[in-house]
Amino acid sequence: MNSMNILVTGCAGFIGSKISELLSLRGDNVFGLDNFSDSYDIRLKQFRLDKLKHLDNFHFLHCDVSDNDALKNSYEIIEGTHGAKVDVVVNLAARAGVRYSLENPWIYYSTNVFGTLNLLELCKSKKINKFVLASTSSIYGNNPTPYDEGQVVDKQLSPYASSKKSAEELCYTYHKNFGIDISILRYFTVYGPAGRPDMSVYRFIKWVAEGSDLIFYGDGNQKRDFTYIDDIAKGTILAIKNLGFEIINLGSGKPVSLIDLVDMIKMNIKKEVKIVYQGVHPADIHSTWADISKANKILDWQPDYDIKQGIKSTIEWYNNNRELVKDVEL
Ligand SMILES: NC(=O)c1ccc[n+]([C@@H]2O[C@H](COP(=O)([O-])OP(=O)(O)OC[C@H]3O[C@@H](n4cnc5c(N)ncnc54)[C@H](O)[C@@H]3O)[C@@H](O)[C@H]2O)c1
Repeated sequence: MNSMNILVTGCAGFIGSKISELLSLRGDNVFGLDNFSDSYDIRLKQFRLDKLKHLDNFHFLHCDVSDNDALKNSYEIIEGTHGAKVDVVVNLAARAGVRYSLENPWIYYSTNVFGTLNLLELCKSKKINKFVLASTSSIYGNNPTPYDEGQVVDKQLSPYASSKKSAEELCYTYHKNFGIDISILRYFTVYGPAGRPDMSVYRFIKWVAEGSDLIFYGDGNQKRDFTYIDDIAKGTILAIKNLGFEIINLGSGKPVSLIDLVDMIKMNIKKEVKIVYQGVHPADIHSTWADISKANKILDWQPDYDIKQGIKSTIEWYNNNRELVKDVEL
């Protein structure tokens, strides 16, 4: 396969850094954009980016995708300094997370909606024909499980989910009017090494490892379709092909309750933990569960990691990076 020039936004993020790494290693030229947003401790973003900077065909540009002029300037650098024409945009830059979106919805709309709009405009003007959007299982709200891509999703429970739904709609508009080929990937609770410190797996590992109280919002019976980072990255890369316009779930298809997740972590770390129960947030979904038959059919994708393997390697990473994680704020 010929190598491609791929623009990856959110490249210092949890998922973006893994995808950038895999694309660079297979020989593509990756132009990674990130604005180092203050969504969580930037030491983790720096840690991920430092690893990428060792790769020959990875190039970093500091850029806020919600700033259209800044995005155009970055593209001029790619064309001018690097002499490259971008073939594909993989848009992972986003403000993620449900709860904070109720406090500051503006940042979610500027990043997730205007950022996506600016990138689609860039595709239109520069004739970049392939666009991949990272979307989310949060879009399904309280739909019946397992969630499949054919379900109607018109009752968003949070500004985060509704901003992603708007981004999906924009993708359709640009596909229909300008022929841009679109893959929309709805990711389900992604976890793994160097994961996000605002997410349950990272927090639970830290709390168990440090002997702190562990906080559950609700009774712990909520289930999440936890999906390992390498599986998400593999599925995303498989979706870089001409599909027309497709929305595809990427999940493990095997939901696990938070209680069972904590038991797994306790067994691995060989420590007990005190659980503190707090109220359920109204924007939280009780259980997520992905129907992944479409990903299997269209992308020939299935997850390689089960939760036990994934948790084991996440804890290994945590233990091997104590110097970093000891200071990372939750
Ligand atoms: N992690 C999950 O479980 C999950 C689940 C569903 C969907 N997603 C989606 O996947 C994508 C990646 O998520 P993640 O978990 O890696 O999150 P992340 O926060 O680790 O990564 C996002 C990156 O985007 C960057 N960014 C934010 N605003 C930006 C802007 N205006 N301009 C440029 N860069 C900006 C951030 O600095 C960060 O490095 C997001 O679109 C997210 O909504 C993630």
